[in-house]
Amino acid sequence: MRKNDIKRIFSLMIALLILSSCDSMNQINDRGRINIQSLSDIDQAIQDMTLEEKAGQLIQAERSSISISDITKYNIGSILSGGGSTPNPNTPEAWVSMINQMNVAALQSSSGIPIIYGVDAVHGNNNVKNATIFPHNIGLGAANDPELMKAIGIATAKEMLAVGVDWNFAPAVSSAQDIRWGRTYESYSENIQRVASLVVPYIEGQLSEGILTTTKHFIGDGYTTFLTGEDDNLIDRGDVTMTKEQMLDGNLSAYIAAIGANTSAIMASFNSVNGVKVHGDKSLLTDLLRDELQFKGLVVSDWEAIHKIAPTLNEQVALAINSGVDLLMEPYKWKDTYNAIIYNVNNGNISQERLDEAVKRNLVLKFEAGLFEDGLLKEAGIVGTQESKKIAREAVSKSLVLLKNENILPLEKNVKIYLIGPASDNVGIQCGGWTFSWQGEMDPNLNNGISLKDALNTVLSSNGGELVSNPNDADLIVLAIGEKPYAEMHGDTDDLSLDGPLSLTDNIKAVELAQTFNKPILTIMIAGRPLLISDYLDHWDAFVMAWLPGTEGNGITDVLFGDKPFQGTLPFTWPLTNEQASDSMNMDNYNKIEHQFKYGDGLTY
Ligand code: BGC
Ligand code: BGC
Repeated sequence: MRKNDIKRIFSLMIALLILSSCDSMNQINDRGRINIQSLSDIDQAIQDMTLEEKAGQLIQAERSSISISDITKYNIGSILSGGGSTPNPNTPEAWVSMINQMNVAALQSSSGIPIIYGVDAVHGNNNVKNATIFPHNIGLGAANDPELMKAIGIATAKEMLAVGVDWNFAPAVSSAQDIRWGRTYESYSENIQRVASLVVPYIEGQLSEGILTTTKHFIGDGYTTFLTGEDDNLIDRGDVTMTKEQMLDGNLSAYIAAIGANTSAIMASFNSVNGVKVHGDKSLLTDLLRDELQFKGLVVSDWEAIHKIAPTLNEQVALAINSGVDLLMEPYKWKDTYNAIIYNVNNGNISQERLDEAVKRNLVLKFEAGLFEDGLLKEAGIVGTQESKKIAREAVSKSLVLLKNENILPLEKNVKIYLIGPASDNVGIQCGGWTFSWQGEMDPNLNNGISLKDALNTVLSSNGGELVSNPNDADLIVLAIGEKPYAEMHGDTDDLSLDGPLSLTDNIKAVELAQTFNKPILTIMIAGRPLLISDYLDHWDAFVMAWLPGTEGNGITDVLFGDKPFQGTLPFTWPLTNEQASDSMNMDNYNKIEHQFKYGDGLTY
């Protein structure tokens, strides 16, 4: 008997157990009719489905807002975890049992089609306790290492499989053109070529482990104009005001690369282009994406994004589906959305043909995830493995960018360091947003990760060095400054200075104090984007940008002490002033303007 057969029989036995413990055995006989053994069965399956069953397949609800019995009743197609939405306890076993229970419920629906479960594993499987937290994309853009991206794609996929999820809402190929945007750290680079070359191996890595990918957010993400943000946002979910041609010129190559790498899905973007919201723009979601770019996979809407495209929910649903959305991420209003689909099909606002096309893309996605074969019931695995931590540590080392070094680095391991600054001992700050909650957490010991201080301590204490408590005893000062955790619109700012609203409260205090000791200063910045430093840089003997490195802080010390070389280069232009924050949009003037640092800068040893 093959291992897979044993697994399948074991899974079925568990299914029977779960069913018999929570429901009458009768319901197994009621198991839904649809059975898909090969891709060629899908068309027949669609013919056999009722309108209600089809409507359910186009719905993606949030785990906390749907009951198990409603999954059965409404033939729900997909469930997601929003940022930080986890079962309790937050263990692989609890995740797997939650998803298995949902799938048993789906099996009992009239169609019997399994659900597909999606999460934002955007820097490791970042909702799950003890999972390895990798650097955010901006740091990986600095590392600019395709092989590393593949390894991270694989390692993240393994930590996703360990909790039974099938589908990732990653990678983002947004390319922030104005770093005042709160999603800058989710972008690999302002340079779309760099983005395109990194996204391919990441997708390949995820797919090779059987995790489906979502390239997001299509299209114009990162290109919106300052002060056009939706609601009161400065820039997030705003409008792209450059011409469509200019926007495509900047954006398209990343999508061409991702489609070439077989990304399973693409997520539509919250933003508008010249005043038209992408979620309601057929010329982008169908004419461009399907007809020109030949994308064959599924288009999912973003979180409640359709609500902004038309006055009533019925109109929103019709417009989104007719524009090209195949699955509606409706975390809370999923039932009204389900009813709206049925209403629109009955009224001819959505054609049978378009409905069937969308259903088909959902079934193909599930087929590709192996859900009809042996994937129905999952088994729990391990997160935070030594193997993935090793890759994360390497990613941290490779992501660091050395921007100034006047005979300070590499450090001797027996050196005496006086460490100060608000980012010196805080794993929550190192991880940033999208870590155990949507906005991230200021928790110093988050996930039992390794802070900069922990990492320095480990090296110094075993080599005759020391973290001293009196600056007079120190050979040098290490000053760690940065930004608070944030996500999406909450990270929008008009002030990137060290005492701006999203900067750490004690940055300036620490910077000024460091200058009073008359010792060499090594400054390390832990932030989701470049902050303004022109007033201080002259006082620093060395300066390192560490981005948002995540839990493996020992990747920083590997480089500081010279065990590994510096090899990161700036994926973004470093502005001198707030006004320069959107400078990558002004390529014509780029070389005439004096920036703090240029795109691509980075010293080495
Ligand atoms: C974000 C997406 C994310 C989704 C689900 C949205 O607010 O824009 O990137 O995948 O939420 O968490
Ligand atoms: C969720 C995120 C989502 C965001 C959208 C949050 O409550 O946790 O996943 O992206 O809302 O606004």
